[in-house]
Amino acid sequence: MKKLVTISLFIFWAVVTAILTAGLVFRKDQPINPVNPPTSDVPAGGQILDAAAVARHNFVRDCWLIINSKVYNVTNYLSAHPGGVATITPYCGQEATRAFDTRDQGRPHSNYANSLLVNYYIGDFNQTVDQAQLDQNTQNTNSVIPRGDDGEDD
Ligand code: HEM
Repeated sequence: MKKLVTISLFIFWAVVTAILTAGLVFRKDQPINPVNPPTSDVPAGGQILDAAAVARHNFVRDCWLIINSKVYNVTNYLSAHPGGVATITPYCGQEATRAFDTRDQGRPHSNYANSLLVNYYIGDFNQTVDQAQLDQNTQNTNSVIPRGDDGEDD
């Protein structure tokens, strides 16, 4: 009987020791600061004006273009464009430098056309922008009353 108790006790402590050892060996590292997850490069309230962000504005009612590393909200200009709406819409939400520089036909836009761009500028491509600033710029560019002329005096 005494022998049985001794063996039982030995097995009991062997199992307890095995469980504790396994707990130590397979222990998962806890986050050092679970309350504050690691911050990304983007500041709170900001976003990177990258290709994915611009691509979300690929509609006639919401059209952004990337031209020479700057992002333009040309939504308001579409209906005034001397080249027509349909020449620009295939580029909404996309890189449009080559299309703008060549008017899709090998001829550049006039200086006048280039001077209009500033009215529709909302930020630099691939740069972090403050969300409030971006919203303000979008609102401003949506409020521009577009000149639908070709810049020539009549
Ligand atoms: C993907 C972008 C664009 C394309 C493919 C494009 C294409 C064209 C085409 C084909 C014309 C010739 C129309 C004709 O003479 O019958 C034209 C004219 C014109 N476009 Fe665009 N356009 C684009 C973006 C813009 C933007 C963003 C602006 C200004 C904010 C603009 C302003 C003008 C102006 C003012 C003209 C009159 C001619 C001139 O001054 O060069 N275009 N465009």
